Amino acid sequence: MKTIWRNTFLTWLAGLASCVVIGLIIGQLLGVLLLYVLGSLYLQLYQLYQFHYWLRHSGRGAPPEASGIWGDVFDAVHRLQKKQRKSKRRMRQALTRIESSTAALKEGVIMADNQGNLEWWNNSAADFFGLVRPVDRGQMITNIVRSPEFFRYFSQKRFGEPLVIKSPSMEGIYLEIQTTLYDKNDHLIFIRDVTRLHLMEQMRKDFVANASHELKTPLTVIKGYLETLGMFKDKLPASMQKGIVNMSEQSERMEQLIEDLLLLSRLESNDKREENQWHSVSDIVKTITNATAPILSEQHIIDVHIPDNAHLYGAYKELYSAFSNLVVNAIKYSPEGGNITVTWESNELNGIFSVQDTGIGIEPNYIPRLTERFFRVDKGRGSKTGGTGLGLAIVKHILLHHDAKLQVKSQPGIGSKFACYFPASRVRNDNRPVPPTS
Ligand SMILES: Nc1ncnc2c1ncn2[C@@H]1O[C@H](COP(=O)(O)OP(=O)(O)OP(=O)(O)O)[C@@H](O)[C@H]1O
Ligand SMILES: [Mg+2]
Repeated sequence: MKTIWRNTFLTWLAGLASCVVIGLIIGQLLGVLLLYVLGSLYLQLYQLYQFHYWLRHSGRGAPPEASGIWGDVFDAVHRLQKKQRKSKRRMRQALTRIESSTAALKEGVIMADNQGNLEWWNNSAADFFGLVRPVDRGQMITNIVRSPEFFRYFSQKRFGEPLVIKSPSMEGIYLEIQTTLYDKNDHLIFIRDVTRLHLMEQMRKDFVANASHELKTPLTVIKGYLETLGMFKDKLPASMQKGIVNMSEQSERMEQLIEDLLLLSRLESNDKREENQWHSVSDIVKTITNATAPILSEQHIIDVHIPDNAHLYGAYKELYSAFSNLVVNAIKYSPEGGNITVTWESNELNGIFSVQDTGIGIEPNYIPRLTERFFRVDKGRGSKTGGTGLGLAIVKHILLHHDAKLQVKSQPGIGSKFACYFPASRVRNDNRPVPPTS
């Protein structure tokens, strides 16, 4: 670099010296020098003109021929340009590969901006949602997928759990949608065909619902006969008397199990749901404490702290069922007696119904599994406290219907707290006589 500048300078100096000699010989020193300076300037301007011309024409082809410093500048620019073209080509190839591999994915992929306007999608997403390029580019995704569940999921940004909906464009296809926010809260949406899984799940639900329903009649007959036999118990031998008592207990238990299974099926299928209305939380809890009085021992103390003006918007029977399962659990799992505190609190975000006990508590590793069907910490069938393990699964479904969440805190040997968080939109803390019908 330095050499080239030195050579250029030396060449120019040699030219200047030659001009001085020629000028002195012909006696026109100033004229010759002026001519030399003008000549040099012309040469530089000409090279600059060529360079400019070449750049203006997108620098296509080889740069103009030049020697000295200009030749070096042209070569450097040309080299830089070649390098840039190469990396651009490489990036384009990588982009094409990514595009063609995502296009070939069986899963649908959609990119939408932070408002939900569609920017890009692959072929599977186009099939699943019936998207047409370029007409749908820039459209709001909620205008394309017109389902109320999807609208709620998308507008309230409930992206924690995947959503299953029917395909808006393909008959009989069920889609699982999972959304991730990236960059400036833009949306990356993955769509998966879960029709097979959905049908299997549906079959399972139908089977449980039908089997439970079909078991009801034979069980009623058995219970009827057991009751009749019970009336003549005294006339039977002692060994049979014990058997009848045992059978009656077990048939009661079976009836409860069937009732629970049928309730779960109804909750899952959203069938025949009671209309939502405003209910006094304190009234619900009073009915529960009256109903649970027979199972309380003298060592149990129930403290209820529920303001009279606390109101909740929902289905009465469902709320009763959920709250009563929590209260009954607190009693059942405090076998030595203890304090049970039922509370209602509210803040600007939530209304919180909680049941706290000083019972046996739960090991931390079991807590995430409590709402699974048939899950019981104590699996022993002979256990006196053991129920069917459906109670908390029912609670979870009921809370889901009421946009609420269950939070469990527990310490073995110390006690447990089950808290239901209802959204503020379902909570009212006043005694207005006319309930709004929102
Ligand atoms: N308050 C509690 N304290 C300690 N363990 C609890 C408490 N509540 C629930 N559990 C544990 O969670 C399990 C599941 O509770 P869940 O209410 O679903 O079923 P269950 O009470 O056994 O039967 P069901 O309610 O169907 O009659 C229980 O078996 C018990 O082991
Ligand atoms: Mg229970």
